[in-house]
Amino acid sequence: MHILVTGATGLIGRQLVKSLLLQQYQVSFCTRSKNKLNSIANCNGIYWDPNALHIDNSLQNVDVVVHLAGSTIMQAWNHKNRKRILDSRVNGLRTLLKNQKEFAPQLQQIVVASAIGAYPDDANCVFEEDYPSYANNFLGEVTQELEQNALAFRSLNVPVSILRFGLVLSKNGGAYLPISKSVQFGVGSCFGDGQQWQSWIHITDVIGIIGFVIEHRKNGVFNTVAPNPVRQITLLQTIARILKKPLWLPNIPSFVFKTVLGERAVLLLASQQVSARKIQKEGFSFQFPNLEQAIVDLEQ
Ligand SMILES: NC(=O)c1ccc[n+]([C@@H]2O[C@H](COP(=O)([O-])OP(=O)(O)OC[C@H]3O[C@@H](n4cnc5c(N)ncnc54)[C@H](OP(=O)(O)O)[C@@H]3O)[C@@H](O)[C@H]2O)c1
Repeated sequence: MHILVTGATGLIGRQLVKSLLLQQYQVSFCTRSKNKLNSIANCNGIYWDPNALHIDNSLQNVDVVVHLAGSTIMQAWNHKNRKRILDSRVNGLRTLLKNQKEFAPQLQQIVVASAIGAYPDDANCVFEEDYPSYANNFLGEVTQELEQNALAFRSLNVPVSILRFGLVLSKNGGAYLPISKSVQFGVGSCFGDGQQWQSWIHITDVIGIIGFVIEHRKNGVFNTVAPNPVRQITLLQTIARILKKPLWLPNIPSFVFKTVLGERAVLLLASQQVSARKIQKEGFSFQFPNLEQAIVDLEQ
C-alpha cells in the first residue's frame, strides 16, 4: 500500500513515517522545502506549494493520504498569522482534493489531523466526538474549517478519518519538553489554578491510532487522547515525582496569561476533558493509557 504524508518533516510526521516504513508500506511525503525532498531515507519527497494549490506529482498511485501539515499555533495570533495557521491546513486539503479529482479516483482514504481545540473550555463536560458545536474561539474556527474541508472528500467517495489530537507528549519536541525542563530546573509551576483538564497522549499512541485507522479503515471523527486525562497540577506533580524534583513555586495567576497572551491564553488555561471511549470501542489498545507510565517512558 502506498501512503502519502503531508507534514512528514514535523514532530508527529517524522515518527509516523518511520513506523510506516517499518511496516513495509511504500511512503511518499509532501514538503514546501526543496532542500528537504531527500531528507527522509527510503521515502519519496514531493514538492508542493499548498497556497498556490500546487503539487509536483499526481496522487495517481497513492492509496491513503495522511494530512498533518499546518503552521504551528504557538505563534502570535495576529491577523497575518491567523490566516497562515488556517490557510496552511485548509489549502493543503484543497490542493489534495483538486489533484485527487483529476488524477486519483482510486484513493481509498484520507486521515486528517485536527485537534481537541475543537471543544470549548468547560471543566464539567466530558467531550465525546458527537459534541454538537465547536469552541467559540480561534481554535474552534480553525478546526471547524479544517474538518469541513476534509469532509469534502466524502462527496467524491473517499472515506475520511478526522483525528482530534490532544496534547502530544514526546521527548523530541512539542509542548512536553519546556514543561519537563521547567520542572527539572526547579521553575515549574501551574498555569491559573492548575485544575484545568489536560487531555494528553503519548506520541507512540498517536502513531498507533493513525496506523490503526488505516489498517482497519476506520472512518469518522476520533478523539486521539489517552483514556485518562489529568488536571494540569497532576501533570506537573507527576513529572516532578518522576524527576525527583520539588515543585515549590506558586501558581501563575490566569490574569498574567490573559494580559500577556490575550486570546492565546486558551492554549494554557482551557479545560478539556476528552473521552477516548470511541477509539477504544473500535478495538484500539493504548500502550500508554496512564500518565505515570508515559512520563517514565519519556524521561528514560
Ligand atoms: N503536536 C501536538 O501536540 C498537536 C496537538 C494537536 C494537533 N496537532 C496537529 O497535528 C499536526 C502535526 O503536528 P506536529 O506537532 O507534527 O506539527 P509540526 O512539528 O509543527 O510540523 C508541521 C509540518 O507542517 C508543515 N508546515 C509548517 N508550516 C506550514 C505552512 N505554513 N504551510 C504548509 N505546511 C506547513 C511543515 O512541513 P514542511 O516544512 O516540510 O512543508 C511541518 O513539518 C498539525 O496540524 C497540528 O496542528 C498537533
